[in-house]
Amino acid sequence: MRDIEGMSILITGGGSGLGAGSAKYFCDRGAQVTICGRRKEKVAAVAAAIGPGCHAVQADITNEADRRRLVAAAVEYGGGLDALLNNAGNMYRGSLEELDEQKLLDIFHTNVISAMLLTGLCTGHLSERKGAVIFMGSTHNRRAFPGASAYASTKGAVETLARVLAAELGAKNIRVNCVVSGAVLTEINQRSGFVTDAEAKERLEAVVEMQPLKRLGTVEEIAEAIAYLICSEWTTGALIDVDGGLALGLTHA
Ligand SMILES: NC(=O)c1ccc[n+]([C@@H]2O[C@H](COP(=O)([O-])OP(=O)(O)OC[C@H]3O[C@@H](n4cnc5c(N)ncnc54)[C@H](OP(=O)(O)O)[C@@H]3O)[C@@H](O)[C@H]2O)c1
Repeated sequence: MRDIEGMSILITGGGSGLGAGSAKYFCDRGAQVTICGRRKEKVAAVAAAIGPGCHAVQADITNEADRRRLVAAAVEYGGGLDALLNNAGNMYRGSLEELDEQKLLDIFHTNVISAMLLTGLCTGHLSERKGAVIFMGSTHNRRAFPGASAYASTKGAVETLARVLAAELGAKNIRVNCVVSGAVLTEINQRSGFVTDAEAKERLEAVVEMQPLKRLGTVEEIAEAIAYLICSEWTTGALIDVDGGLALGLTHA
């Protein structure tokens, strides 16, 4: 098991939620973390709050020039690259008949295609450090939520990517894994425009009863699993559920 102290880690979507929480968790343990997001003030505020060890870059991962600039910035800041956390993601919901083609293309572009292309830009750097790539899966692939087909299918795609890329990149000494996160209260539902803050909280809390552990998760609990996958040396192609047991499909029958 390697030590996270001194590692250079790139996190996409670090201006809020699980990305911001992971950045803090890794920096608190001595890593050099580069975070990105489209909203400059959000990533800047997170980096300022974390302090030395966290570097903010305004970047849209769907833009090729931004992806290249982002990787160069992370490599320069951290003196190389040990891990890429493909965390940036958006939510899009609606019944099948209502789905808009452009919005479907947009969500696949962010959640899947940009993460693939960004990973491709990082493999040379990661290979030099026996590095790791982490994808963010979702409980939406363990429990079926009507109206979430767009989001859920992007998360199914990243699980597949973690397994196929683990096979493809093993020869380059790069490990690829996926954290399948359960319900943690972040901005993602509200940013989709689908629900208000209060409705998002209410919806998330509705899954609590379906879990043996009967509570929402925290950003730190997801970061712990990501840190394990960054530091572990013999885990690759794994999908790790961190969800209070939601995936079990609890039943009292
Ligand atoms: N929270 C949960 O319960 C949960 C459960 C399972 C999986 N996840 C996954 O965890 C990841 C993080 O989500 P979260 O819950 O922490 O939500 P969040 O707070 O909304 O964070 C997502 C971040 O991604 C950034 N982002 C979106 N599009 C981007 C783009 N094109 N380029 C760069 N950054 C972009 C957003 O910032 P900007 O808008 O400023 O770009 C935002 O800060 C997502 O992949 C999500 O699917 C979350």
